[in-house]
Amino acid sequence: MDINGKEIASHIKEGLKTQISEWRQKGYRAPKLAVVLVGHDSASEIYVRNKEKACTQIGIENLLIKKEADISEAELLGLIDELNEDDSVDGILVQLPLPGHIDEMKVIERISPLKDVDGFHPDNIARLFLNHEGLFPCTPKGVMTLLDEIHYGLAGKEVVVVGRSNNVGKPIAMLALHRNATVTIAHSKTQDLASVCRRADVLIVAVGQCELIGKDFVKPGAVVIDVGMNRDAKGKVHGDVHYEEVAPLASYITPVPGGVGPMTVAMLMKNTLEAYMRRNQVK
Ligand code: GUN
Repeated sequence: MDINGKEIASHIKEGLKTQISEWRQKGYRAPKLAVVLVGHDSASEIYVRNKEKACTQIGIENLLIKKEADISEAELLGLIDELNEDDSVDGILVQLPLPGHIDEMKVIERISPLKDVDGFHPDNIARLFLNHEGLFPCTPKGVMTLLDEIHYGLAGKEVVVVGRSNNVGKPIAMLALHRNATVTIAHSKTQDLASVCRRADVLIVAVGQCELIGKDFVKPGAVVIDVGMNRDAKGKVHGDVHYEEVAPLASYITPVPGGVGPMTVAMLMKNTLEAYMRRNQVK
């Protein structure tokens, strides 16, 4: 059965919208998200537009700051300092990737952890690792929320995460571990990937390889979460999972598009509200 991420994300955003409108009625200001876009990468422009649209939908003020690709690292760091100091800004997101002459980690580290709505700052990563309160990466949060929506308890289950990126694979594994799953992280060097994947009660794939996961990788009845978004020559988006092959085997599967993708944006909105609440002591 499909897990309809688009619909779930839409419900979540409705809830956040209600929450914001209640705060506004009590006299609080609207939450504000600053998005910094450097250069003209076409995928980044689409992502930023989607984030802007979601903000407008639910009543978050969106401050989009566009800079040319030749901005110096020092100037970008200066901009982040300004946004950190601006009390009206609750969340700061610098769209990645950045041009090659800018050190991404240096930029991420400059963002105040309290405004780091991507959850990429090392302080927030440490909090995630320690199972302490913090701002956590949006896609991993979105994946866990999808599992909650189908009332799937992870305790004692075999979770296989394919992909070990800092922003997706590793944090998903950590969140699943905190829910008492037995977690395996597989990656490009894993031997006999198919047999490792076949162990999974929950198979989560985030490698960015079009339709890598076919029917031989999936145990009948498994839950399959596809984080992949691979664009073909015609601009059509495909997942990391071969949907037609795997869907008949899986108990649940996320389609691409319309699965994990919309959840990432919904979780960004949720993180912005969490940052707002913590910074303004709003309950
Ligand atoms: N580029 C692609 N995905 C993301 C994301 O989640 N956050 C940021 N900042 N940049 C991205």
